[in-house]
Amino acid sequence: MMNIAFLSPTSFRLYDETAPKSACVLEQKILSGGVIGEDQSVYVNGLLNVQLNQDNLVILYRGKEVFSAASYTEEGEGIDHSLAEKEGHAHEQGRFEGGGMKIRSTRPVYGLGERSGPLEKRGYDYIDWNTDDPSAHVDTFKSLYQSIPFFILFDGDDSVGVFLDNTAKVHFDFNKSHPEEVRVSYVSGKPDYYFFVGTMKGIVAEFTRLTGRNPLCPYWALGAQQSRWSYPSKEKVDEVIRRYRENDLPLSVVYLDIDYMDAYKDFTVDPKKFPNIREWLSEKKEEGIVVVPIIDAGVKAEPGYFLYDEGIQNGYFSTLNGEVYHNEVWPGDSVFPAFLDERVQRWWATHIASFLELGFGGIWNDMNEPASFRGPLPLDVEMGEGIKHDTAHNVYGHFMVKAGAMGFEMAGKRLFQLTRAGYAGTCRYSGTWAGDNQSIWDHLRLSLPQLMNMSLSGQAYIVVDIGGFGGDTTPELAAKWAIASLLNPLYRNHSALGTKDQEPYTFTGVYLETYRKALKLRYRLRPAIYTELYLSETKGTPALRPLVYNYPSQERVLNENTEIMLGENLLLIPSLFPGEMRRAGYFPEDFRHVESQKLYEAGDAILDVSLPNIPLFYKRNSIVPLEDDETTLRLLCGDGPSPRGLIYEDEGDGLAYREGKYNLYELKIEQGRVSVSYLHHGMTSRYQKVVVCYPDHEEIIPFVIE
Ligand code: GLC
Repeated sequence: MMNIAFLSPTSFRLYDETAPKSACVLEQKILSGGVIGEDQSVYVNGLLNVQLNQDNLVILYRGKEVFSAASYTEEGEGIDHSLAEKEGHAHEQGRFEGGGMKIRSTRPVYGLGERSGPLEKRGYDYIDWNTDDPSAHVDTFKSLYQSIPFFILFDGDDSVGVFLDNTAKVHFDFNKSHPEEVRVSYVSGKPDYYFFVGTMKGIVAEFTRLTGRNPLCPYWALGAQQSRWSYPSKEKVDEVIRRYRENDLPLSVVYLDIDYMDAYKDFTVDPKKFPNIREWLSEKKEEGIVVVPIIDAGVKAEPGYFLYDEGIQNGYFSTLNGEVYHNEVWPGDSVFPAFLDERVQRWWATHIASFLELGFGGIWNDMNEPASFRGPLPLDVEMGEGIKHDTAHNVYGHFMVKAGAMGFEMAGKRLFQLTRAGYAGTCRYSGTWAGDNQSIWDHLRLSLPQLMNMSLSGQAYIVVDIGGFGGDTTPELAAKWAIASLLNPLYRNHSALGTKDQEPYTFTGVYLETYRKALKLRYRLRPAIYTELYLSETKGTPALRPLVYNYPSQERVLNENTEIMLGENLLLIPSLFPGEMRRAGYFPEDFRHVESQKLYEAGDAILDVSLPNIPLFYKRNSIVPLEDDETTLRLLCGDGPSPRGLIYEDEGDGLAYREGKYNLYELKIEQGRVSVSYLHHGMTSRYQKVVVCYPDHEEIIPFVIE
């Protein structure tokens, strides 16, 4: 039987009462609802009027029809694709026979999490099936590492967000096969949809209220992060840190890729390469460097290895026909924790907690699609609670990082994880990096729309490997990537085994100068980024944004793939091509250049993007908080009609902020001068003075709150 349940004046759930328990939806208060009969029924709640029967759904919002759909089952189109498949051209159409929905729409489409292709998704089709494919991600890719079955059909204030809570394989056809239709179909499961109506802002806030938001990360995580597959010894890591310092490049985090382990065994450290790990980690901490190790989903199948033995004794690994299932990952013969089982999550969490207690500051979770080298895991492998791979697949990584987050709770530490695989709501437990990109200009360009859609899908802690992971970067590509990533909530340079080194100190001349300048600006930008991340946790507003989010009535920005914003006030218009010295930029309203204060009025402009210029702008009608150092704030004060801004500040780590130990300041301009007042006062500020930057002059004043 189908049911309807209203969750707010602008959202409701439509579901079959036998739909399985959700992997991500948080408990909701139901305002009203009922069972759907054979005949057309009308349900009214808040601003919505929903007309439906077993097969059709029409949504009226404030009296206007905003959505109309019919149930739908995908059928094959009767063409034999076997010859193309022999050469490796996968064809999946016609295999999604579980059910679905056909929506009448020609509206712009956004969301669906991490995807290749442009920001606006009409004309493309995608499949939810977490996939580790290290070949160059291009527009025609149907799947990447994550699956977030949430999209927005955009129509200004009358937009509709659709979330299909189904962890099986799902197919989305956005006006590709049928120009006037969006089609969603799944291979198995029961209908379980959520609809959100209103502005894009309202829809994202409600979706994240439903599936969860990212808890605030530690402040150090906003600094520069350096990674490499792999730094093979502690001496090498020490050298990386030293060379950063010698070259006047700030650095906060170093990652340890798989070679720090003993024979690629999770929760081990090779004592020859990293002796006295506890002392070494504490030494790094003293130097201001946090070390984050990788943990892989596949566990080495080796009797005598504690993790394997514990898992075997307690029945913690995934099984096939009652036997522990084996495949191959980095350590060779491997088994896979049954992460959907809560007992397994608690067990994994204890190991994460012990690892954190050694002095590691975060956890980098990988290969959790799960990736496997001896062909894919069969679809009937059981991954916990009797749930088989066909429906467990898209949430396997989700539950791995849920277990990881429990480990942080056990250790009493503020959460910092990265994951490759994920589902809706995974952001509650982990940030995401977009997997194995490549050192190619196309991937620099891809990163903007990809990150913007991840952000609209609820993920705040997002990053792509700066410089590109696979292949050899060039100094210009890396330097331009360092600029193009400036507003990304996380900032990590990482590259693959066998590729040319790409730490910024390996560059020279203008490329080193540019990378250094970008890093220094990145450190200055941290108060603005942190404030946006605080708002994203508390209000559900994305930190990183496409222009359409802030300017929904400007048609011009509906598919803006080359400009990106942080919150409402910072706009980056980076160069994305080799050799490019000038580019066209579009300003949706008046902005000023961060470095020079030069005014750019609303409209088009030609920008000098030659290196080392940084094309970052702040809204004329805003106040943006930066910092020069630990104790010195820098406020960019625009000269619009009523500039405003916010600053969030806490201890930067630990959990006391949850108990109110934080400050939230409101910034305003009154009679031509900046004024700062408390919206929340929970601790002594670390700031002592402020450099106030008006468009025509700067002033240094003590940091006094009115
Ligand atoms: C995977 C990850 C990559 C990592 C490598 C080795 O390819 O995506 O980031 O460096 O495995 O662990």
